[in-house]
Parts: sequence; C-alpha cells; structure tokens
Amino acid sequence: MAKVCITDAVPEAGLDGLRAAGHEIVSWAGEQPPTRAELLNQVRGADAVLSVLTDGVDDELLDAAGRQLKVVANIAAGFNNIDLETCKRRGIVVTATPGVLFESTADTAFGLLLMTTRRFGQAERLVRAGTPWRYRTTFMLGRAIQSMTIGLIGAGQIGTAMARRCKAFGMQIAYAAEHPMKSAARDELAAVGLPLDELIATSDVISLHCPLTPETRHILNAERLAAMKQGAYVINTARGACIDEKALAEALKSGHLAGAGLDVYEHEPEIDADLLEMENVVLLPHLGSATAETRTKMTGLAVANVVAVLEGKPAVTPVPGF
Ligand SMILES: NC(=O)c1ccc[n+]([C@@H]2O[C@H](COP(=O)([O-])OP(=O)(O)OC[C@H]3O[C@@H](n4cnc5c(N)ncnc54)[C@H](O)[C@@H]3O)[C@@H](O)[C@H]2O)c1
Repeated sequence: MAKVCITDAVPEAGLDGLRAAGHEIVSWAGEQPPTRAELLNQVRGADAVLSVLTDGVDDELLDAAGRQLKVVANIAAGFNNIDLETCKRRGIVVTATPGVLFESTADTAFGLLLMTTRRFGQAERLVRAGTPWRYRTTFMLGRAIQSMTIGLIGAGQIGTAMARRCKAFGMQIAYAAEHPMKSAARDELAAVGLPLDELIATSDVISLHCPLTPETRHILNAERLAAMKQGAYVINTARGACIDEKALAEALKSGHLAGAGLDVYEHEPEIDADLLEMENVVLLPHLGSATAETRTKMTGLAVANVVAVLEGKPAVTPVPGF
C-alpha cells in the first residue's frame, strides 16, 4: 500500500480511483490551505503527491517528502509551480490534467470578455449600490463584440475553445502561438496566425492562453500594451505573470485601453491597488476551471496518473518530457 498525499481540499468524488486502488490517503482537512510549513510536514513519507497550482514543488518540498516519492500529479493544466528540472533529476514523474478543463476555462474567458466589453460588472455594482437608474438609450453603453477581432496569445486547448465561442458571437479570430492552431480548427474558425507584434497591433481584444514560462513572463509588457489599438481590451485567464500588471494598470489609467477582464494576477492573491479601483476592470478570484464537474474530472485524472505510476505503468497525461 502506497502513501498518497493530497495537499489541499479536492472534490471527494474525484478520489474514487485512489480508494479503489487501496492506497493510504493523507488529505488536508484545514479550513484554509496549508501554510508552507504545514505542507512540508504533510508530504513527509509520501510515495505520490497530488499538488495544486499554489504549491511550490521544489528541492525543499521534494527533500521533505523523501527519496521514496515517485510522482507529483498537479491538479491543473499548467505546471509552472513545479521545478521540472529538479523532478527529472530525481526521477520523479510529473503529470498535469489537460483535456478536461478547457471548456470551463474558455467559458470563464468568454464571460470576462462579455462582462468587460458590455460593462456588466460595473452595471451590477451600480444596481447593488442603490444608485438611481432608468432605462435610457444612452445609458451605460458598451461595445459590440461582433465588430471586433480577438487576438489570442496561445491557441492550444483553451485558446481554441475560446476562439469557438468568439466565432459563434461573430468575431474575427487571429492568434499568435508557438505551435500553430490545429488545422481543422483553424479552417473551421477561419483563424489567422500572425506574428505576435502584428497580433498586438491589430486586435480589438487580446486574450491570453499560453503557459507561464520564462518566454511568456510579461509577454504583455508596457511596450506591447502601448502598441495595442486605442480602446482595446485585455482578457487574462492564463497566468498573472504573463502580464506586467503595473503596466496594465497604467495603460488603463491613461485611457489607452478601454478595459480588462482578469482571472489571474501577478502576485496572487494580491491585486494591484489601482486595478481594484477601476470601474472598467472585471476581477475574478482565479475561477478559470471552477465547476464541480470539471474539478472532479481534474482530480480523477490526477488520481489516474498516480495509480498508473504507482503500478509501474506510464502516466496517463505526463507533462511533456516525462
Ligand atoms: N485561469 C485558470 O484557472 C486556468 C485554467 C486552466 C489553464 N490555465 C492556464 O492556461 C494555460 C493554457 O492552457 P491550455 O490547456 O490551452 O494549454 P495548451 O498547451 O493546450 O496550449 C498552450 C498554447 O500556448 C502556446 N504557447 C506556448 N508558448 C508560447 C509563447 N512563448 N508565445 C505564444 N504562445 C505560446 C502554445 O503554442 C499553445 O498554443 C495553462 O498553461 C495554464 O497556465 C488557467
């Protein structure tokens, strides 16, 4: 019987596969996520760790776990919280959960797009604040997305699912990505692949769907934000540090950008004080894939990875290179 550590609360139904395999489960029962010290203590002696994206998986954590650790299964599509080199050197398999969360996350991105361009966040706050209002043909006008081009940075699973939603609402689709969008989707969506700086300069909305890597950290920096069209919008459901958050606040404050819809933040859960004050910014607390169905599937997939590796089989969805 192996010892499997789950570092934070997960949907119980996702753990059925672990129970069926008969492994010892060490789960976190705290009201709040564990502190770093609690996390290090909790992983001690684990053969497998089911991690979440707020866990820094590095030498310190792997040392705390011990040499018997065989697999780290991240319950996320991204894995920027894991030191892959270190895991590789130690012979630890790293897995993620692609393929089960792209629809939910694209829903969040598209929800942010509508909320931002149609000012729904601001409007809801106005109603709740008890501000007097009446129907007027000039009251709280937003912008029609049907006339717009969406520029996707990253056109993998989530970027493509976002493109489908945008196409259904009459938008033009453009993207910049390390790997081209799959050709069937590209043809179906009439999506145009562009060099990044051309995408930035020609899109009405920039939506981020790339992983956080050294190359994509601040991919939307002050210079690129300044190169965006006057009155354009930014949507981010990727990772906060893909945008220079201070520079984004400045670009919004100056009126160069019309609005932003954000799910993720550079110093999460801290949010730039200026962004918190702006009516044209919609802020979500990292809800990208947060549906009961999707989070259960993500947990189930992480469990399937753990069970496979502990049985000496290949992981189901290893991170590339593992
Ligand atoms: N907000 C959330 O809760 C949430 C949920 C799921 C995923 N995410 C984030 O979304 C990211 C994308 O997820 P996915 O499942 O679509 O991944 P994916 O691997 O299917 O697609 C990633 C895309 O990014 C592109 N890319 C990689 N490096 C790039 C670069 N330097 N410049 C431009 N494009 C680049 C790739 O070519 C690919 O098109 C994840 O890595 C994760 O960080 C966030």
